[in-house]
Amino acid sequence: MSRVTFPAGFVWGAATAAFQIEGSTTVDGRSDSIWDAFCRVDGAVRNGDTGDPGADHYNLMADDVALMKSMGLQAYRFSVAWPRVRPDGGAVNPLGLSFYDRLVDTLLDKGITPWLTLYHWDLPQKLEDMGGWANRDTAYRFAEYTNTVTECLADRVVHWTTLNEPWCSAFLGYAGGIHAPGRTDPEAATAAVHHLMLAHGLGMRAIRENVPRAVAGVTLNLFPVAPVDPADESDVDAARAIDGLQNRVFLDPVFDGSYPADVLPGLAELVQPGDMELISAPVDFLGVNYYRDYVVSGHGEPRLPSEWVGAEHVTFPPRDLPLTDSGWEVNSDGLTTLLVDLADRGVPLYVTENGAAYPGIEDDDRVTFLDGHIRAIGAAIDRGVDVRGYFCWSLLDNFEWAEGYAKRFGLVHVDFATQQRTLKRSAHWYARVIADNGFGE
Ligand code: FCB
Repeated sequence: MSRVTFPAGFVWGAATAAFQIEGSTTVDGRSDSIWDAFCRVDGAVRNGDTGDPGADHYNLMADDVALMKSMGLQAYRFSVAWPRVRPDGGAVNPLGLSFYDRLVDTLLDKGITPWLTLYHWDLPQKLEDMGGWANRDTAYRFAEYTNTVTECLADRVVHWTTLNEPWCSAFLGYAGGIHAPGRTDPEAATAAVHHLMLAHGLGMRAIRENVPRAVAGVTLNLFPVAPVDPADESDVDAARAIDGLQNRVFLDPVFDGSYPADVLPGLAELVQPGDMELISAPVDFLGVNYYRDYVVSGHGEPRLPSEWVGAEHVTFPPRDLPLTDSGWEVNSDGLTTLLVDLADRGVPLYVTENGAAYPGIEDDDRVTFLDGHIRAIGAAIDRGVDVRGYFCWSLLDNFEWAEGYAKRFGLVHVDFATQQRTLKRSAHWYARVIADNGFGE
């Protein structure tokens, strides 16, 4: 394979999320999140897995940071658990906050740059009981929570992300019923979209006020979407609808200050004066999570419940591509396409998640996956796209949401019975990529 080097200063990291690795869900004043409650619903999460003990990162944090150091990671993307910091969405819990204070200090001590995400899906259950993201008030509770975290860490954390993948929170959580809180109410999902974006805007304002030197943005899961048959009108319309629901409904408000007119007609009436100005305040970067692309057909029968609100008839016919252990098609070219498409949004891009589930420690298939996708980023940079960093998902095997612990995304293998960590072949491989700032001769 040919040599690929990355621009000087390109950031190499790995990512995790609080609920997926921390465990210790009932200690030090943490309250339930929607995921704790969802795990208790019979059959909602495969094998009845829960957040405990997870990868026990709450107790093994210092060891895990030492592992990051041993791999040469330059940056670590993690999320803060709202239900630790403001349990039930209420008063500040200093004990919960102190975990992140120590994490940040431990990272900085090892020369690893903290990349902090405020919301990676663990809404306090008490706020869900009051309507969750379908309730506008939740956005204001998020602003309070952001104030708390920024006030504590402004002196040490530069890189801030408001939300991770609001698409999943809104549509998998409130329309498809696949993620917490498990609701199947399209109207609630539409409301959740706007209130999540409002939370992003209010969160950005709090970050700007409290962290003058912040580099701040939002992370979206974005997918290139194409029709099965570009000459078939209903396939073309299906591609428009899925692109609208997956990509444009989140990109347009941030970058253009408006929602697209062709999807979710109910959105317009939720917008109050001043909302769109907040949501479209400048971001310093866009976080891009890429796992796969979509080719869609408009010839299916409507199926309900569906996360594709207003496009319930769209199908995703399989292609002749390799599959990960999650059954996701592998197509690294899609990442180049996506990054090139995003270039005209005018902000630096960071790939904040990319990776795959594969079993085993001798994980050559993950090496092949990562190799292809990192080269795809190189190809986008060669075409002039301003991509500044890459965060592999994930540092550790972890709780893969509705799939429980069955799908292993880690560079580091976790034995969930003993909490033993073992660097996989891919971790050793990635450490070399980082050391070489790309691929050797
Ligand atoms: C993304 C999530 C992340 C992880 C990966 C596999 O959608 O942000 O938490 O589950 O998928």
